Amino acid sequence: MEQGSVWLATAELPRHPALAADLEVDVAVVGGGLVGLTTALLVARDGARVAVLEAAGIGAGTSGRTTGKVTSQHGLIYADLADRHGGDVARGYAEANQEGLAKVAELAGQLPVDCEDSRLPAFAYAVRPEGRERIAAEVLAAQQAGLPATGTTDVPLPFPVSAAIRFDDQLLIHPGRYLAGLAGAVSAAGGMIFDGTRIGEFDKRGNDGVRLTAVNGVRVHADRAVLATLLPPGLVGGYFARTRPTRSYALAVTLRGPAPEAMTISVDDTPTRSLRPWRSDGLIVVGNDHEPGAEADTEAGYRDLETWARANFDVVSVDHRWAAQDYRTPDRLPYVGRTPFSSRILTATGFAKWGLSSGTAAALVLADLIAGRPGRPWQSIFDATRIGDAASVGRLIKDNLSVGTEFVGGRFGAAGDPADLAPGRGGLIMLDGNRLGGYRDPGGTLHAVTPTCTHLGCPLHWNQADTSWDCRCHGSRFDADGAVLEGPAVEPLARHEPAE
Ligand SMILES: Cc1cc2nc3c(=O)[nH]c(=O)nc-3n(C[C@H](O)[C@H](O)[C@H](O)COP(=O)(O)OP(=O)(O)OC[C@H]3O[C@@H](n4cnc5c(N)ncnc54)[C@H](O)[C@@H]3O)c2cc1C
Ligand code: FES
Repeated sequence: MEQGSVWLATAELPRHPALAADLEVDVAVVGGGLVGLTTALLVARDGARVAVLEAAGIGAGTSGRTTGKVTSQHGLIYADLADRHGGDVARGYAEANQEGLAKVAELAGQLPVDCEDSRLPAFAYAVRPEGRERIAAEVLAAQQAGLPATGTTDVPLPFPVSAAIRFDDQLLIHPGRYLAGLAGAVSAAGGMIFDGTRIGEFDKRGNDGVRLTAVNGVRVHADRAVLATLLPPGLVGGYFARTRPTRSYALAVTLRGPAPEAMTISVDDTPTRSLRPWRSDGLIVVGNDHEPGAEADTEAGYRDLETWARANFDVVSVDHRWAAQDYRTPDRLPYVGRTPFSSRILTATGFAKWGLSSGTAAALVLADLIAGRPGRPWQSIFDATRIGDAASVGRLIKDNLSVGTEFVGGRFGAAGDPADLAPGRGGLIMLDGNRLGGYRDPGGTLHAVTPTCTHLGCPLHWNQADTSWDCRCHGSRFDADGAVLEGPAVEPLARHEPAE
């Protein structure tokens, strides 16, 4: 079993040099995931001089670790959107995602890479009888939103369901290959891509564009900047306080026999199970949603998924396992467009684990805004400067209060003797009178960092399964040597050289 995304292990992602000298472009796209690459491609095809500035490498973020379903069916959402915001917003969300889906299908068809794209139905199902009513309401709301939705109990799963909603003609892709194809297309369209280039500062220059500074000090001057970083870095636009991180575990397993020819997701009040086929006999199993930094036993989620997969399918082997995260907004609508900070700094965030379709729709909006084209009819529902309705703001305050509790209360976990850390294990340690985060690598070397998040100072929690230091406040993650893995943090953790 390999630790890491099956999509990254089975795609040839192009590598690019880091940005080494100051640069001037029309559009700087920060982030080389699906949203950044799609935006860069559209903007380059519009004739702009564009550079993608990626902290690690193409697909290093969530896009390389997704389930790969490109669908307008996002669990149960349309009845809730209609209820909270009205039928027009539910319809706008549906149209945006259908347009995103169509764009992915179009691009996948053009790219010189086999993206393993195929059309399949998508089902959201309830096993428990209590789910029937919610499914019935969702079928109605989805149909009213103009989607190809029907109610059914006929779902290609090895167990009975009490109710389900079926969307026809949805799309599956191999996310790694799709990203590789997008990156190649950006370069072919004249766009530049730089890996290993983490942007730490954004400085609006009035009418003179935006200046971006990488952590190595290199600067980019751009007319417009697009923050396609899953969540805008640092404090930009206050998005860290207007979203919550949500993380899931994933397995790629081989079955004895073919996998069900459908995308499915459970909607019961039990840990989510999201499935899709890969190869002829492979199944991707995703679930056990949680907030990063919140799980005391990070192996438990993987174990639970595997136990469920083995109980329901004839599993020959578990081949890959990984985890990934995304951000959700309090009103269930992503933020897309200009930031409150500046009309020259645009963003797209808050896809709630459905950003392949809605992130592609976001890229269409961003490219329109940059080109000065008239907006799409549904664009305003994603307004990235909105504050939100009273209920959403109330939910946000409640969520942020729990983060405040973490800030105060999360610092008091027991710290052990570093000598007690077995190879491959990490945790809080006391070293020379300092409370540090320690990890003993399989070769026996101790790595020590200050376990305080460099974003806003929350305490970090050791994630044994993914060997990282995770922040519960806004989802920043750091490796055992303190390098930023993801989240709004930009600066690494302070490292200590333990003398053992
Ligand atoms: C477990 C899981 C399963 C999912 N499954 C699905 C699915 O089946 N269908 C679906 O539609 N959606 C799914 N999603 C959601 C979807 O994958 C994401 O919404 C989407 O990939 C987000 O793309 P992105 O480009 O915004 O972010 P990312 O892919 O995370 O890209 C952001 C990039 O920005 C870079 N970056 C970050 N900070 C900086 C910085 N300061 N400077 C430079 N670069 C920076 C990162 O290295 C990263 O490469 C899933 C999400 C999860 C967590
Ligand atoms: S991510 Fe904000 S404090 Fe850690």
